[in-house]
Amino acid sequence: MKKAVIFDLDGVLVHTDRYHYDSWCLLTRQLGIPFTPAQYDTLRGLSRMDSLERILALSSRQFTRAEVEALAEEKNEAYLKRVEQMGPAEVEPEVRRTLAGLREKGLLLAVGSSSKNAQLILRRVELTDCFDAIADGSMVRRAKPDPEVFLKAAQLLGVAPAEALVVEDGAAGLRAARDGGFQTAAFGGDAAGSPLADYDLTRLTQLLELV
Ligand code: BG6
Ligand code: MG
Repeated sequence: MKKAVIFDLDGVLVHTDRYHYDSWCLLTRQLGIPFTPAQYDTLRGLSRMDSLERILALSSRQFTRAEVEALAEEKNEAYLKRVEQMGPAEVEPEVRRTLAGLREKGLLLAVGSSSKNAQLILRRVELTDCFDAIADGSMVRRAKPDPEVFLKAAQLLGVAPAEALVVEDGAAGLRAARDGGFQTAAFGGDAAGSPLADYDLTRLTQLLELV
């Protein structure tokens, strides 16, 4: 029995995964660190700092805490420049159709994102009102693959984890959802084909048949 669907944001509801990748590339080029889309795939769902630490581990250089903080800030500034250009047209019609269809079926809807920019992005693309709850990176101490953000979303919705389906493009997010006791659906990214997923979606509208 499914009472709720909890969506990851970046790479599921919007294509901000591309903007994250492009912003990391600005940094890695500057630092001479080779960085590919496949490497970004392994960072899907991780917090800004955890992602940066993984990227810097690819370099032979050592970085001071102050340098790491400055690089994180620089990446976020580059990312926000792209986010500022986002508008409602960036949401695929399929996403809006799916959210409306799930609502009609009586499902509760939430966002569970590691991003500290989640609220801003949802406002920019005019999706905020589609959700009954939003849990994001500013509300938790531990980011994915820890289940905290999904547990927070479930708590805000007033449902038990087993009653909610989490939709993710990141393997780290699937791990988080699994460990939290949620049902899981993979949607692209490095989540696709993962054994951690109960369902593997190629289109978001498939959710309408699952619930
Ligand atoms: C996740 C993305 O949703 O949010 C990661 O998949 C990103 O790539 C993380 O690093 C943190 O985002 P932000 O916006 O707080 O830097
Ligand atoms: Mg994602």
